[in-house]
Amino acid sequence: MITEKTRAEMREIIARYPQPRSALLPMLHLVQSEEGFVSPDGIEVCAELLDITAAEVAAVATFYTMYKRRPVGDYHVGVCTNTLCAVMGGDQIMAGLKDHLGIGNDETTEDGKVTLEHVECNAACDFAPVVMVNWEFFDNMTPDRARKLVDDLRAGVEVEADRGARVCTWRQAERVLAGFPDGRADEGPSAGEASLAGLRVAHERGWTAGGHAAAAAPDLTTRGSTPAEATRTAAETDTTRAESESRAAEAGVGRGGEGPSSRPETPNSGAENADNAGSAGSADGEKGQR
Ligand code: FES
Repeated sequence: MITEKTRAEMREIIARYPQPRSALLPMLHLVQSEEGFVSPDGIEVCAELLDITAAEVAAVATFYTMYKRRPVGDYHVGVCTNTLCAVMGGDQIMAGLKDHLGIGNDETTEDGKVTLEHVECNAACDFAPVVMVNWEFFDNMTPDRARKLVDDLRAGVEVEADRGARVCTWRQAERVLAGFPDGRADEGPSAGEASLAGLRVAHERGWTAGGHAAAAAPDLTTRGSTPAEATRTAAETDTTRAESESRAAEAGVGRGGEGPSSRPETPNSGAENADNAGSAGSADGEKGQR
């Protein structure tokens, strides 16, 4: 049951956004912090406060995997079984935890402490295989270490993530994701040796995102909302990228001896140039469908 206090906090979240419905994602996290999952009551309250339909709220809640349809235990243990983690031992960790806890994927132990779920890549492949507890990282895991981790969690032992804060409960973590900080964001290391090694190499060799940064990060605030506007924005983005790459070509990176309007060599630059030589209408039409 969503309380009056939570309703008031939802209104506080809504007030943070120019468009009320933009508040839906943090509101759903707040629902999870109170109910342990996205409950039917939580969906109804979100719909009522945002003046949208319950179907629209449910569509969002069932799209993103961080929103759960069944109550989660105190600790959501996510084992990455995506390709790299799987071959580095993630599959064995998952199988070992299922056996150790006596539960299957997306199930919770009888004491309500641990919910086990296999998760997709957590963008921490340099620390594979990775396990997350309430979205905090545990790196370079082994089946033995994973078993000890869940035993400690169930026994109430305080557990520190390898990168990040001390592990709190699922509901506490959901409250932080809803936008109500617990003041522990700076606890623990935020980066690990594997990531920092790449940074050191970049510094040593003088590598920067440099001239490609603008092209790689178009201004999303100006992205068109209609197909025609989206097509125009895509075309403008491509032009920026082409200009950036042309400057790189002039500076000697890529194919030499070509004019500034040519792109540097890429695996399919010939095909792209052939497309560009065709009708602008058809090229734009293709972009508009992406
Ligand atoms: S494959 Fe596991 S974090 Fe990327």
